[in-house]
Amino acid sequence: MTTPAIVVNDLSKRYGNSHGVLALDHVNLSIAGGTVFGLMGPNGAGKTTLIKVLTGISDITSGTASVAGFDVQKQSLQVRARIGWVAAEVILEDDFTTWENLWLQARLQDIKGWEERAEQLLQYFGLLDRKDDKVSHYSTGMRKKLEIALALLHQPTVIFMDEPTIGLDVATRRMLWDIVTGIHKEFGVTVLLTTHYIEEADALCDRIAIIDRGRIVAEGTPSELKARVKSDVVSLETSEALDPSVLSKIPGVQEVRAQGNDWLIQVVASEEFLPRLFATVRTDQIRRISVEKPSLETVFLQLTGHRIAEEEPMHDIRKFYAQMRRARS
Ligand SMILES: Nc1ncnc2c1ncn2[C@@H]1O[C@H](COP(=O)(O)OP(=O)(O)OP(=O)(O)O)[C@@H](O)[C@H]1O
Ligand SMILES: [Mg+2]
Repeated sequence: MTTPAIVVNDLSKRYGNSHGVLALDHVNLSIAGGTVFGLMGPNGAGKTTLIKVLTGISDITSGTASVAGFDVQKQSLQVRARIGWVAAEVILEDDFTTWENLWLQARLQDIKGWEERAEQLLQYFGLLDRKDDKVSHYSTGMRKKLEIALALLHQPTVIFMDEPTIGLDVATRRMLWDIVTGIHKEFGVTVLLTTHYIEEADALCDRIAIIDRGRIVAEGTPSELKARVKSDVVSLETSEALDPSVLSKIPGVQEVRAQGNDWLIQVVASEEFLPRLFATVRTDQIRRISVEKPSLETVFLQLTGHRIAEEEPMHDIRKFYAQMRRARS
């Protein structure tokens, strides 16, 4: 059995004084070396806080954590020598060339003989012929590649990526997925990434922890997590208020949740439920209806009672306008 790359024991983190936010609430995790592990949760769940604690940027309120076999509090230098970090925000020096950015990183981390490694990384990321270009001339995808190359320069064994694809267009996001899978295979690093995007966690991660309000609410492989949910979720918007018992009495309905005229109905099988629904509720009372088969989204919904994306910032402008239109109509 491989030794775990990251171990978190009963870890809590409260910001500020005893009335401050409890950002991590008794978290336990064991992440195997050489895997891609995803922390998935909504805004404010505690994802960045966990990365900050594991990278030694933030202190711990109680509990312990180790990375690459070293205690993050007591052996922070050893930890820092073995980790790379790709932050959500951009850290490149725009007026520097690619090579100068690598040089700066080597200076900051005191890396000897970095040039050969830097060339290998640029070769790997297809940036070698652009090494004398100013970073300000780079595309978003190229910038991301360079940020990852910087994080890999000192040959870390564990790399943290906080929301690596937030705000990126679909094509760049896909390219980044290939990079994450690639660096994990090519350089043998353990990757801990955070994401709001369910399909991202599903596509990339060997295992996922679902985090909500500082607590790990579930952990497992994507298929294990999906297997926990056997029912379909029907979401329904009605034009007028309905009596919830009308819905909960329909055979096959397991649970009904309402928020105004928005309903989330958990059913055994949507194929059987929908004809019964239409026999019960007049079609002109239904403004919108959709069916979700078991997915990481429905796992999250059933575990927490809310959606992972409900507070997601509006990175997708079309989604934003769609919501505006809906709000006005
Ligand atoms: N420096 C800080 N001081 C006080 N509270 C903080 C600080 N940083 C984060 N918090 C609080 O801790 C909680 C967890 O925040 P965190 O940034 O870890 O969430 P997150 O899961 O990364 O969210 P997002 O998806 O928005 O990045 C939030 O309630 C946040 O307001
Ligand atoms: Mg965050």
